[in-house]
Amino acid sequence: MDRLRIEGGHALRGAVAIAGAKNAALPQIAASLLSPHSLTLQNLPEVADVANMLALMAQHGATITRDAGSATIDAAAASPADTGYDTVRRMRATVLVLAPLLARFGQARVSLPGGCAIGARPVDMHVAALTALGADIVIEGGFIHARASGGLRGNRLVLPSPSVGATETAMMAATAARGETEILNAAREPEVVDLAACLAAMGARIEGAGTHRILISGGTVWRAATHRLIPDRIEAGTYAIAAAITGGQIELSGARLEHMAAVVQALEAAGVRVWPGDRGLIVAGGGPLRATDITTEPYPGFPTDLQAQFMALMTQAEGAAMIRETIFESRFMHVPELSRLGANIRLQGTTAVVRGATRLKGAPVMATDLRASVCLVLAGLAAEGETVLNRLYHLDRGYEQLDVKLRRCGARIERIGP
Ligand code: EPZ
Repeated sequence: MDRLRIEGGHALRGAVAIAGAKNAALPQIAASLLSPHSLTLQNLPEVADVANMLALMAQHGATITRDAGSATIDAAAASPADTGYDTVRRMRATVLVLAPLLARFGQARVSLPGGCAIGARPVDMHVAALTALGADIVIEGGFIHARASGGLRGNRLVLPSPSVGATETAMMAATAARGETEILNAAREPEVVDLAACLAAMGARIEGAGTHRILISGGTVWRAATHRLIPDRIEAGTYAIAAAITGGQIELSGARLEHMAAVVQALEAAGVRVWPGDRGLIVAGGGPLRATDITTEPYPGFPTDLQAQFMALMTQAEGAAMIRETIFESRFMHVPELSRLGANIRLQGTTAVVRGATRLKGAPVMATDLRASVCLVLAGLAAEGETVLNRLYHLDRGYEQLDVKLRRCGARIERIGP
């Protein structure tokens, strides 16, 4: 099992090419099952979660053709094979195949995902949305058994909370339902907007993506399509914090400011400079860092996927920063590991109080989930001495060549064996 060895204390300088968004790629790969025609996705990130999702398409009978940075999925011969527990346990996003399989074939059998390091991660809103569209769903033996023998029917859906995945499930199902569907309290994330753009390229008629009210006309006549993924705002935010925490300067090539407003606002409040460059956004640290409170919220609020990374930065800021997590019930797995590096963090329910600035000292640390892992890399870049991060597979799920990109900016970081 690979590990990462980091020697901290070096300011990072250079440019990083921001990859396509993992959380846009995963639902769009699943959406390819809706159509008997091919879907080509460009700007595809080379990360394990994408490779696993493409492999799942092949398990369902689709043929995959890979090219540099893109994949063509031809689901003409796809079938509603089971999506087993092992597949879904390893990657919760595979539950997103439920809606396309049900919409196209009238049936689907997908394992319940189960929980993960950051929370219980239920799928009740996905199930409720499909039921409201006419599906008969029975949950038995750890599986979701869904049927819609007479096809799905458009309806008005009100999501109890703006769940990204449930919005994506409802959108995909509604494109194949009979009649109109209105989704209220929809998630507004850029990845939801990008899925709508991809579905539209495939022939769907969708209005309002990016707002809380999305209208979908059913009965889509599908066509072959090509779609280019948006850049990954979470990867971009991660490298922005890498520049800030090391006192360096990095140009985030391809990053889109309009997807990162809340993150840029928090960074600037903390004393980090951000300005538009020729190829994207330039982020510079180096000045004194100020403790800055954040609360994670649905988009356009501060993203929960950058909470851990921002916490690492706050260990280097003067004062006490209150970091409140409102999206997932246990997304503080990185706190005990940061404390091993010398951070001063107290947990009070869903709030972490980070007192800085503290001099971090390198140590062996354990990765628990994707974003907690990268938070520990960021802390290691700022720590004195050597930090070794175990369980590197967590990182490889969502970051394309993280060590290579950081090394190109001057980081002393290398993969080492078990
Ligand atoms: C997506 O997960 C992302 N994953 C997550 O990124 C991200 O953290 C999350 O959205 C929030 O932005 C992908 O897009 C593949 P939710 P998702 O449904 O769709 C609860 C990463 O690190 N909920 O918006 O699962 C849920 O438990 C990952 O890249 C229900 O209760 O998130 C959570 O508390 C981590 N019932 C909250 O809603 C449901 O049916 C928000 O979840 C669905 C969700």
